Amino acid sequence: MNQIYLAPLEGVTDSIYRNTFKTYYGGVAKYFTPFISPNSNLKFTTREFKDIDPEQNDINTTVPQLLTNNSEHFLWAVGEIAALGYKEINFNLGCPSGTVVAKKKGSGLLFYNDDLDKMLYEIFEGIEAACASTGADVPEISIKTRLGKAEPDEFYEILDIYNKYPIKELTIHPRIQSDFYREPLRPEFFEYAVEHSKAPLVFNGEVKTLEDITAIFRKYDTVNALMIGRGLIANPQLALEYEAGHALAFDYDKFRTFQEDLLSQYIAVLSGEKPVLHRLKEFWAFWQELYPNNEKALKKIRKANRLADYTAALALLKHP
Ligand SMILES: Cc1cc2nc3c(=O)[nH]c(=O)nc-3n(C[C@H](O)[C@H](O)[C@H](O)COP(=O)(O)O)c2cc1C
Repeated sequence: MNQIYLAPLEGVTDSIYRNTFKTYYGGVAKYFTPFISPNSNLKFTTREFKDIDPEQNDINTTVPQLLTNNSEHFLWAVGEIAALGYKEINFNLGCPSGTVVAKKKGSGLLFYNDDLDKMLYEIFEGIEAACASTGADVPEISIKTRLGKAEPDEFYEILDIYNKYPIKELTIHPRIQSDFYREPLRPEFFEYAVEHSKAPLVFNGEVKTLEDITAIFRKYDTVNALMIGRGLIANPQLALEYEAGHALAFDYDKFRTFQEDLLSQYIAVLSGEKPVLHRLKEFWAFWQELYPNNEKALKKIRKANRLADYTAALALLKHP
C-alpha cells in the first residue's frame, strides 16, 4: 500500500497542527493523535476532547491514540471514541517516558507479558459490548510498539502475544524503552517482524528524506505504511515529494503562510502570549533546519518572550 502516516507527537501534532498541515501539505493517509490517558474518572479532559472532537477532525483519517494499562478504562474510551465516528483506535505501547513507564504504561507494559496478554485479551473480548453500550460501530484496534523495555530480545515473545489478536496494523518503532529517541535503530528486529507478524506492519523511526522513504519501502516490500514524525514536521513537503516521486524545491512562501496561519490559530485559542510562544517554539526546534545560516534570527526566535519580539525575529530570517 506504501502510504505515509503522521506520527503522534505530544505537545506538537494537536488538531490545529494536523488540520493546518493537511490544508497546506497533506500526502498523509492517517493522522495519529498524541496519546489520551483514560482513567477511573471515565471522562475526557477538555484538552483531550478538543483533540478528538469530530467537529475539528476528519474522522476518516484521524486515529485517536490511547495510553493505559487498564482494559476497563481502555474499553470505556473505545466506546466513547467509536460513538464519535472514528473507525480505528491506536494503543500506545511505545512511550518511553520515565513517569509513564514507572506506571507500567506505554513501553513499560512490554516488560509484563502476562499483563500485556491479559489486557489485549480483555480488549478484544470486550470491544463489542463496549461499543454496543454507546451504540457505536466496532472500530479496529491498531498498536504502536517498541521492541521491549530492557532488551530487544523481549520482542520475540511480545510479537507472539500480538499474533494472538486481530490487530489492524502493528506500527513498530525498532528501539527499546531505554533507547529513547536517540540510540541507533535495531532494524534486524523489524526484519523479524516482517517474517513473523500476523498483523500488517508499519515502520516508524528516523525517516527524514525522500531517499529514506524509498529505501524503506524497497527493503520491506510487504509493509503497509511508513509512519513519520520528526522528519515530516521538519520538512512538511516530505510526503508530497514521495507522492510526486521526486524532490521538490522548498516553497518558502507557502511555508511562511503555513506558519503564520498556525500562529494566528494559536493566538485565537490560547490565552496569553507565553503559551502561544511556547507552542511555536516547539515547532521551531524542527523548522530551524529549513533556515541554515540564520543562527542570529533563530536565537531571537528561541529567546522571544513577547509576540512582537517573535514576529520581529521571523522577519530577519533569510531563506536559501
Ligand atoms: C516530543 C515527542 C512526543 C511524542 N509523543 C508521542 C505520543 O503521544 N504517542 C506516540 O505514540 N508516540 C509519541 N512520540 C513518538 C513519535 O510518534 C515517533 O514514534 C518517534 O518520534 C520516532 O519517529 P520519527 O523518528 O519519525 O520522529 C513522541 C515523540 C516525541 C519526540
